[in-house]
Amino acid sequence: PATARLDPDGVLRIGGVRVDELAAEFGTPAFVLDEADFRARCAAWRRAFSDCDVYYAGKAFLCRAVARWVAEEGLNLDVCTGGELAVARSVGFPAARLLFHGNNKSVAELRAAVAYGVGRIVVDSFAEIDRLAAVAAEAGVRQRVLVRVTPGVEAHTHHYVSTGQEDQKFGFSLADGAAAEAVERVLAAGSLHLVGLHAHIGSQIFDTAGFGLAAHRMVGLLARIRDTHDLELPELDLGGGLGIAYTSEDAPLEVADVAERLTAVVGKECAAAGLAVPRLGVEPGRAVVGPTTVTLYEVGTVKELPGLRTFVSVDGGMSDNIRTALYDARYTARLVSRAGSAAAHVVTLVGRHCESGDVVAHDVPLPDDVRPGDLVAVPASGAYHRSMASNYNHVTRPPVVAVRDGVARLIVRRETEEDLLRLDIDPADQAGPAG
Ligand code: LLP
Repeated sequence: PATARLDPDGVLRIGGVRVDELAAEFGTPAFVLDEADFRARCAAWRRAFSDCDVYYAGKAFLCRAVARWVAEEGLNLDVCTGGELAVARSVGFPAARLLFHGNNKSVAELRAAVAYGVGRIVVDSFAEIDRLAAVAAEAGVRQRVLVRVTPGVEAHTHHYVSTGQEDQKFGFSLADGAAAEAVERVLAAGSLHLVGLHAHIGSQIFDTAGFGLAAHRMVGLLARIRDTHDLELPELDLGGGLGIAYTSEDAPLEVADVAERLTAVVGKECAAAGLAVPRLGVEPGRAVVGPTTVTLYEVGTVKELPGLRTFVSVDGGMSDNIRTALYDARYTARLVSRAGSAAAHVVTLVGRHCESGDVVAHDVPLPDDVRPGDLVAVPASGAYHRSMASNYNHVTRPPVVAVRDGVARLIVRRETEEDLLRLDIDPADQAGPAG
C-alpha cells in the first residue's frame, strides 16, 4: 500500500500503524487495508475518467465501509448478485449510481434491483430480457438497460478470467448478430429503456490494444444501431480489467494513459461514423482495491527438505488466497515483524490446509532465519482474496482491518467457530417423534 513504511527495527507500518500491533490486536491471518490508498485510487480514477462513469466493481472486494468510501469518493458501484446489492442497499448507496451485472440473475434478484431503483441493469441473455421486461412491467417502471456485448477480443490473460472471446457464457455475440437482435428486443419491450452497450474483455490486462479494439467494434455497433433504428445510444461501458503488479515482473498501465487511449479511440471512431460521442463507463475492481491491502500471516512451521526446498507454513492459505492455486498466480512475501538476517533463501510459502496445492506464494526469498512467530506480509491482496475466501477445513475467514492516520478499525470482523456452527443443523437438536 502507498502508506507502507519500514520502521528502523524492521517492522512494517501501514497507515501509520505497526503490523505487530495489528497482529496483537486483531490476530492473524488478517487483511490490512490502507484506507487513504483506497480513497486516493478512487480519486485518481475519477480524475482520469472525468467525464465518464466510473463503477467500482464490488466483486473484487465489498463490505459496507468500502461501499461508503466508494460513494463518498464519487464513484458508482457495479454489483453482480443480490448479496452485493444488499450490501449497497444496507448503506443507502444511491440507487441511480448502481449497475447490476450477471449472466444468470434470478427473478428475485431482478425484482430487488428494480424495487431499489438500480440505475442500470446489464442484460446478458434473451431469457433475461424477457424476465426483466416482465419484472419492470409488474413494478410499473421503465428500467434503464445496457446490452452486454461480446466483442470477440482476446485479452491475453488467464483463460479463466478472459471474457471477450466468442466462446463463453457472458453477453451477446457481436459476430453472429445476437447483439443486434438483443438491441431490437430491448427496444421492443415497453418496460425497458435501452441506454447503451457494455463490453468487458477480461481481467489483469497489461496493454491497451484489447481495450482499443473492443472500443472500435462497439462504436461500429453503435453506428449500425443508428442506421437501423435511427437511434444514437448515449452510453458505452467498456468494463474493467486493468492489471496490477503482484510481483516486479508485472508492469501495470497508468490509469491516465488508459483513459486517454480509450477516449481518443472512441472520439476518433465516433467522428468517422458521424456519431455523437457516448458517455463512457469503466468498471475497475482489482486496480482500485488490489494494491491497497496486505495479508498478514504468522509463521508456524519451517520445514527444510535438504536438496529439495524449504516450506514455510503460515496460519492461512487457500481459504484466504485461492488465486495461487486457481490461476497459478504469483506473489511476493516479506518478513515484516523484524529485520531478519541479511542472507535470504528461496522458500515455498504454504498454508495450513489439507492439500499440497495449498500454496500462498511460490519461490519467495525470505531471510534464512525466518522462524515460528514471525509475521509475513503478502502485498497486493485486496482484490479477489477476501471476496473469494472460503471456510475450507472449517477455517474461519480473516477480518479486514482498515488503517488510516495511525488508527486501525475493524471493517469486517473475523468469523468465529460459532458463526460456522450456527449454520449447521444437528439432527439431535430437532424435536421429533422418537424412532
Ligand atoms: N466488470 C465486469 C463485467 C467484470 O466481470 C469484472 C470482473 C470487472 C468489471 C472487474 O474487473 P477487474 O477490474 O477487477 O479486473 N477472480 C479473478 C478475477 C475475476 C474477474 C471477474 N470479472 C482473479 O482473482 O483474478
